[in-house]
Amino acid sequence: MTSMTERHKTLEKNITLLGVCAFIAVAIGGIVEIAPLFWIDNTIEKVEGMRPYTPLEQAGRDIYVREGCYVCHSQMIRPFRDEVERYGHYSLAAESMYDHPFQWGSKRTGPDLARVGNRYSDSWHVQHLTDPQSVVPESVMPQYGFLAKNDLFVPDIAANLTALRHVGVPYSDKDIELASSDLAAQADPDADASDLLTRYPKAQIRDFDGDPSRLTEMDALVAYLQMLGTLVDVDGAAAQEELASEHGR
Ligand code: HEC
Repeated sequence: MTSMTERHKTLEKNITLLGVCAFIAVAIGGIVEIAPLFWIDNTIEKVEGMRPYTPLEQAGRDIYVREGCYVCHSQMIRPFRDEVERYGHYSLAAESMYDHPFQWGSKRTGPDLARVGNRYSDSWHVQHLTDPQSVVPESVMPQYGFLAKNDLFVPDIAANLTALRHVGVPYSDKDIELASSDLAAQADPDADASDLLTRYPKAQIRDFDGDPSRLTEMDALVAYLQMLGTLVDVDGAAAQEELASEHGR
């Protein structure tokens, strides 16, 4: 017998030694995987067009979470042919980089919503949310008509944005300072929204719920739904992403 097998026998018979060696082997693997994450700034490729949510979109998103829409809807198109043909380009990591909490979801009782923005009119959404069965008779989606009756009440939107900034969403001081006026301006067709648009490109500015005299929860939720998947030119960004990974960045 060679001394190598002799030595291996000793290792196999000594449980403590085996444990220590196994720990060292696993630790090396762990360090190789984990250590680089401490030195790179970001594991997500930045893509053009991605921006933080406007205050109104963020308020709508909070309603989406509050109402548990994620229980039936995912926001994550996987790179499979059937999904891409049904929902559009697969989701890029960067498209959910400002999501706290993310809404990828794990259940699709209803369709994926990652790219539902601009697919239907506002009035379709209002009708559908108020009475889904009037649009899709066999729908099992609950009715959310009360959202149009509730005034949008956000106690302190500036504080919300500040909290998000603490976890890495790049809101500027100006964004936070103007948060509550931005919130109202996005749903007010008469407001001067040019400043809002420079800070939040592609923000959609109009009355969303069909009642311009009031700012309701319906306004916020529809504003959020209508922006989903509309910010990034996905085909261009995906090509860029592939190129970057080919070049080992
Ligand atoms: C009990 C499960 C359930 C819940 C909860 C639910 N939905 Fe749905 N949703 C569905 C189903 C099923 C459909 C497909 C039939 C239809 O269009 O009504 C659907 C369809 C949709 C569509 C149309 C998507 C498309 O591409 O045609 C939107 C938008 C939508 N839901 C938004 C929401 C929002 C916003 C909420 C939360 C306020 C919500 N849903 C809560 C089940 C649900």
